[in-house]
Amino acid sequence: MAGFAELGLSSWLVEQCRQLGLKQPTPVQLGCIPAILEGRDCLGCAKTGSGKTAAFVLPILQKLSEDPYGIFCLVLTPTRELAYQIAEQFRVLGKPLGLKDCIIVGGMDMVAQALELSRKPHVVIATPGRLADHLRSSNTFSIKKIRFLVMDEADRLLEQGCTDFTVDLEAILAAVPAHRQTLLFSATLTDTLRELQGLATNQPFFWEAQAPVSTVEQLDQRYLLVPEKVKDAYLVHLIQRFQDEHEDWSIIIFTNTCKTCQILCMMLRKFSFPTVALHSMMKQKERFAALAKFKSSIYRILIATDVASRGLDIPTVQVVINHNTPGLPKIYIHRVGRTARAGRQGQAITLVTQYDIHLVHAIEEQIKKKLEEFSVEEAEVLQILTQVNVVRRECEIKLEAAHFDEKKEINKRKQLILEGKDPDLEAKRKAELAKIKQKNRRFKEKVEETLKRQKAGRAGHKGRPPRTPPGSHSGPVPSQGLA
Ligand SMILES: Nc1ncnc2c1ncn2[C@@H]1O[C@H](COP(=O)(O)OP(=O)(O)OP(=O)(O)O)[C@@H](O)[C@H]1O
Ligand SMILES: [Mg+2]
Repeated sequence: MAGFAELGLSSWLVEQCRQLGLKQPTPVQLGCIPAILEGRDCLGCAKTGSGKTAAFVLPILQKLSEDPYGIFCLVLTPTRELAYQIAEQFRVLGKPLGLKDCIIVGGMDMVAQALELSRKPHVVIATPGRLADHLRSSNTFSIKKIRFLVMDEADRLLEQGCTDFTVDLEAILAAVPAHRQTLLFSATLTDTLRELQGLATNQPFFWEAQAPVSTVEQLDQRYLLVPEKVKDAYLVHLIQRFQDEHEDWSIIIFTNTCKTCQILCMMLRKFSFPTVALHSMMKQKERFAALAKFKSSIYRILIATDVASRGLDIPTVQVVINHNTPGLPKIYIHRVGRTARAGRQGQAITLVTQYDIHLVHAIEEQIKKKLEEFSVEEAEVLQILTQVNVVRRECEIKLEAAHFDEKKEINKRKQLILEGKDPDLEAKRKAELAKIKQKNRRFKEKVEETLKRQKAGRAGHKGRPPRTPPGSHSGPVPSQGLA
């Protein structure tokens, strides 16, 4: 198998890899690094934890060392924490170069960021929203001459999910040169491939790991069928079990909303589980602090929304618990990919209620693997059921008293003001839009109904039985029973 040196990387980079403990290139690195060094655009699709970051960081550093200037490379990622993680990889591998990097993400001081940008860092790692804000408000820096544009988690950046990056991406793409290398990476690129290929026009090289299953082999994937109302008791039971059975344990729990995340965090703490939360309603400083505490194993449980589902590389995580079944198979793939990384073992347990069975089927179909059932002693769960429900209710009341929902509303308004919009006007516009949508929906339903009727009429006309004389019985036999 070829080593890093055979991929065309300089000896100083090969030495950096060795020092970092990267002995052999992974398949995605073997595939993509030579193509990137050749000057081609690259779309890399490989499983979670397979080393996609180094697959773009290494060739960029190589090219930067040949022609160093700032701003040489722009990396876009969907989340702030991921931006910091990628910056760290650049910093470690690019140390001998005296690499200057700059992280541009929301929730941090904008003036300090503008100053850093004006100092022409080699690499800028950014979330789209904040970078677009800088582009709109400042002329002290330029990304007109970048050589590389990287989109990590490219499908997430380009799809219209709960955070829609479209407008910000348009602003960014208008500010970068047409002549550049574009590198797109994700564990789930294939769905959005057509859009992505529009971005990569420079002899795009598409690298996709060939594997029958789209999740990692060493990952033990289970489901646990639970009635909705007793979900939390099962969660507490599972954690208790891990704590009892393992000396060294570390779990990420994914939930669907910031509020549930906060309540469950409070609840687990009441049960003395060392838990920290990570969701978008927290201040950025708190988010970083929570992640740092979890990474250093001071806290064994991280309970998070999907803000933590992509890209984060925390080698100690042994188990991922999905407190809710993800609505999209893609989200499932990224969530469970927070464990069993870089060849390690891991386990994923998805709590499935009576309402989620179809979601599990969709997941199984996409990953091409059946989840196995996780068995628990129900009697043990029943023993703690009342206690868990009471504690959860207490936490809910406490959170309501802290005006969590109001804070959410205030945060939304703040965000709109920052975007230069009038919150009240936006609310009005939203309401109007909802009305129009409802009208359209009704109109569509009516049209569909009419079309259906017309079609049925035509079919009836065509298939009408030949006229029969009155009293004859040769017509269709009336159905029995179900009238
Ligand atoms: N050649 C290598 N040999 C050994 N370990 C490696 C190698 N390349 C990367 N790694 C390690 O593998 C881990 C996962 O890498 P990385 O975060 O780049 O995965 P990824 O493919 O981007 O996953 P995700 O899809 O979840 O973002 C990291 O801890 C990284 O240091
Ligand atoms: Mg990654």
